[in-house]
Amino acid sequence: MSKKNRSSSKTALSFHDLRTQAQQCTFRERVGHFSRFIAQMQASREHYYLREIVSPPGRVVDLIDPQTGRKRTFRMFGSNNYLGLANHPSVCEAMRRAVANYGAGVSGPPLLNGYTRLHRELEERLSAFKQAEDTLIFPTGYAANTGLITALTTPRDLVCYDELSHASLCDGLKLARATAQSFRHNDLHQLRQLLEDPAHAAAGDRFVGVEGVYSMDGDLAPLDRMVPLCRKHRAILILDDAHGSGVMGASGRGTAEHFGMEGQIDITMGTFSKTFGVVGGFVSADKAVIDYLRYFARSYMFSASLPPAVIAAVLAGLEVIAREPERREQLQRNVRYLADGLERLGLPVHPEAAIIALRVPRGMNIRAAAGRFHQAGIFLNAIEYPAVPLDEQRFRISVMADHTREDLDRLLETVGRVWGNFESRELRNGTNSDCGLRIAD
Ligand SMILES: Cc1ncc(COP(=O)(O)O)c(C=O)c1O
Repeated sequence: MSKKNRSSSKTALSFHDLRTQAQQCTFRERVGHFSRFIAQMQASREHYYLREIVSPPGRVVDLIDPQTGRKRTFRMFGSNNYLGLANHPSVCEAMRRAVANYGAGVSGPPLLNGYTRLHRELEERLSAFKQAEDTLIFPTGYAANTGLITALTTPRDLVCYDELSHASLCDGLKLARATAQSFRHNDLHQLRQLLEDPAHAAAGDRFVGVEGVYSMDGDLAPLDRMVPLCRKHRAILILDDAHGSGVMGASGRGTAEHFGMEGQIDITMGTFSKTFGVVGGFVSADKAVIDYLRYFARSYMFSASLPPAVIAAVLAGLEVIAREPERREQLQRNVRYLADGLERLGLPVHPEAAIIALRVPRGMNIRAAAGRFHQAGIFLNAIEYPAVPLDEQRFRISVMADHTREDLDRLLETVGRVWGNFESRELRNGTNSDCGLRIAD
């Protein structure tokens, strides 16, 4: 590494800086710098990634506290287990039965040897859930997004996508080498301009990629206006409903149901890693589109199928969603209760789904604030720069149906205390840099 780079490595660095500087380093320098960086971060004990959970998932979880190395109970506000399905008795029982009937896994991809009666049953049930003709199950939601975009688009096509789209869509676009153009978050005016711009007049087709519920802000794509716009310009709408499925709509069928747009979305993608509490992804669309994906989506063709127990968990989860609407109702009440409480604290939020983005004020040391939540026994995710711009750092509150009033009150009390600490200057860091750690060469 050059002298110049060596001296600059004495200043505060972030993950982002490390990644950027890595371009000028050898492989050994890259991994060596990162090892020292991560060791310092762990030693600082302000390290709230990779927390080790030692209990079943739920509104409370036991963790190995990184600060003491001992087991401690936390109230969970950082899980996408919105309806409590990850530990629901009928979901766990269905998994046990599937292991007894089908064994642990299928040891192969679906086209060759990884397709069971259960897999087909789930594809049919998800098609009904999403009011689509057919469905394809992928190993993860990430694989579903990369698989569909690489299989369905060509470099001649134009893909317009919301700037806050998930990494899986963005990575898929890079792989697909499609002509991709982002538009400002939820800005239909800019989307319309892109679709009408002769400079972008694609020789091929136009696709539009949006999310039903955006994962960092918890706000919705205005599907009621987006669907007609896409129709008008003959653009194919791809909806990622990872955080909307099970949560949104009168029956939990997702964001399209919420907007009264069921049956009008060209391609819907979803995941089993949020509401369903397990792992996996799916794409629902016309039969012709699904047949095509089955033979051209490489992340489907060249990856092993999900274990039958996971498939059984999702089938059982779909039944719970239909049978226990009170879970969704309770989730909505909990979201409302938290929003009202935050408003009373002078922190207005306008949640539309089960995610509440609590922006931290400019100058708040978010890493130290995360430590205060940790001390109070609250498991909460801090979304730091460079994942978001410096002045958009936030805590991401994931609300669950299972949270009790006491859980919600404890969270609100802690938010009040942390924001009070900021007012009294205890949690200010002036620069609000992402971690302030240094690489010691
Ligand atoms: C909007 C969105 N799409 C796709 C994914 C990928 O899902 P999975 O965890 O199943 O890979 C996620 C997960 O974080 C997500 O939030």
